[in-house]
Amino acid sequence: MGSVEIPVGLKELLQGYTVEVLRRRPPNLVEFAVQHFAHLQENQRKQHVKKHTIKSARKGVSFDTPSSKTAKDNDEEEEEEIFSDRRVSVCAEAYNPDDDEDDDSEPRVVHPKTDEQRRRLQDACRDILLFKTLDQEQFSEVLDGMFEVLVKPEEHIIDQGDDGDNFYVIEKGVYDIFVQKDGVSVCVGKYDNKGSFGELALMYNTPRAATIIATEEGALWGLDRATFHRLIVRNNAKKRRMYEAFIECVPLLKCLELSERMKIVDVLGAKAFEDGERIIMQGEMADCFYIVESGEVKIMIKSKTKAGQEGNTEVEVARCTRGQYFGELALVTNKPRAASVYAVGETKCLVIDIQAFERLLGPCKELMKRNISQYEDQLVALFGSSVIGQ
Ligand code: CMP
Repeated sequence: MGSVEIPVGLKELLQGYTVEVLRRRPPNLVEFAVQHFAHLQENQRKQHVKKHTIKSARKGVSFDTPSSKTAKDNDEEEEEEIFSDRRVSVCAEAYNPDDDEDDDSEPRVVHPKTDEQRRRLQDACRDILLFKTLDQEQFSEVLDGMFEVLVKPEEHIIDQGDDGDNFYVIEKGVYDIFVQKDGVSVCVGKYDNKGSFGELALMYNTPRAATIIATEEGALWGLDRATFHRLIVRNNAKKRRMYEAFIECVPLLKCLELSERMKIVDVLGAKAFEDGERIIMQGEMADCFYIVESGEVKIMIKSKTKAGQEGNTEVEVARCTRGQYFGELALVTNKPRAASVYAVGETKCLVIDIQAFERLLGPCKELMKRNISQYEDQLVALFGSSVIGQ
């Protein structure tokens, strides 16, 4: 059989449809397909309307009074119409490289900041995974576009089911995450003075997937939807191209659907480490999971004295190379890091935060647990049975 040429854009189009089906679980796939593709077509026609969609940065955040949240002026109604239109067409929109040119014509949002504000903002953004694959210019545009949001205890920053307005980076404060399960709101985790949230509704044009409530006074940095779309979502298209092939060959992720693996790519960050650099420290609390993209890491455990006390010297227990993962144990067991991890030579890792790990890697947990049980055998072989259970 001769080779078949796949039309440009077909893969993205079908992927977009598949992701929407998995997210929305429509009862009738054919009917949903008709709606989905009709909206895509309509959206193509309405491309020029996008130029009017930039919100003034804080519009819709509604931190002041509950009534301000529901008040709609003409502008907002127009915006809502556009967003509901976008909602169905998100995937093709998010991963259509042709969008790039169009987005470039959108005005750049700049929120002036004092030196002190900019310093605090830079500190808060230093470890944000979604920013890790941006180039310097994109990153500084993101910083320009962010605005400070002060929050009070019990304030709802995001309500599940709402339309997405902003993405948030945490400067300080503790925020509970609630998700509706069988009609009951369940606290599934929290952000403790670091991290970011609110990316999902903006990336996939879906309703907010969780409620985020401040438990104390806090400070956030917001990024409006249009700027997030122009800088982060556009970058995600590049990320998918860069990491798709690699992610496809990570054995752990084989148990996921393609669309689920792509969602991992959308939220991961990439970090480079120098030879000997410590990536994880034994005893620390865990907030990330790692996959080695290139190079190698060694996993070291502090040796035990005869009395079972922790000694000062570290013993190598394992190595991980391209495609292998580490950092899952503490996330799965909810315990401090059980070992330190160091780069061997220059090493690059893909990093996934604990919230995304919980949300996206559930189906891989069984495999991880099976592998975790082998760690115990390794430890017994090295230190004897006295270390188990400590
Ligand atoms: P978004 O859906 O835009 O708004 C709510 C945010 O909560 C969501 O993006 C994520 O950033 C964050 N979040 C944290 N944990 C979860 C979870 N388990 N399910 C869904 N969203 C979560």
